[in-house]
Amino acid sequence: MQPVIRRYDAADLDAVIGVFLRSVREVASRDYDAGQIAAWAQADRDVWSRRRLDRSTWIALIDDVIAGFMDLEGNGHIDMLFVNPPNQRKGVASALLDTVENAARGQRLAVLDTDASITARPFFEKHGFQVVRSQDVALRGQRLTNFRMEKRLIAV
Ligand SMILES: CC(C)(COP(=O)(O)OP(=O)(O)OC[C@H]1O[C@@H](n2cnc3c(N)ncnc32)[C@H](O)[C@@H]1OP(=O)(O)O)[C@@H](O)C(=O)NCCC(=O)NCCS
Repeated sequence: MQPVIRRYDAADLDAVIGVFLRSVREVASRDYDAGQIAAWAQADRDVWSRRRLDRSTWIALIDDVIAGFMDLEGNGHIDMLFVNPPNQRKGVASALLDTVENAARGQRLAVLDTDASITARPFFEKHGFQVVRSQDVALRGQRLTNFRMEKRLIAV
């Protein structure tokens, strides 16, 4: 079933934090150890509240329930893409990325980039992103590998 995509609303905050935490703990945990997941799966509600509103964020709904979300910063950086565990591999992230790419083209952005987790790398590769470099990132006393990835947008 195709998800419905709409803009984030402040009332979605707790639901998106819930999707983030479940997605990290139940999906990204395939690729990172327990200490790394514990460091990653933390969300300060005030910081999240500001960040979701100071950049474009979209929500994917399936049967009116939030199945995933994705953002786009003004410089073309994608900071967040998370899909709820029960909704994985059903095209939710693809539908969100489609929306983000259309918005980016509308803003005349030439390049999208992201720091993709090990878990998300195959998704971004499937959608035409290329790895620029592997990174070793410090996070709350842990070190996590991720990948700077880029996609050049073709103007339409
Ligand atoms: C990465 C993520 C967002 C993908 O979401 P999704 O909705 O399951 O992705 P889609 O269903 O749109 O996948 C589209 C295609 O991408 C590729 N893909 C997605 N996940 C994949 C995986 N784990 N392994 C290999 N290919 C994958 C496949 O080609 C897939 O098509 P298919 O299912 O027909 O084979 C999701 O797995 C997730 O939330 N991961 C954990 C959190 C995370 O790491 N977020 C990124 C932080 S940078």
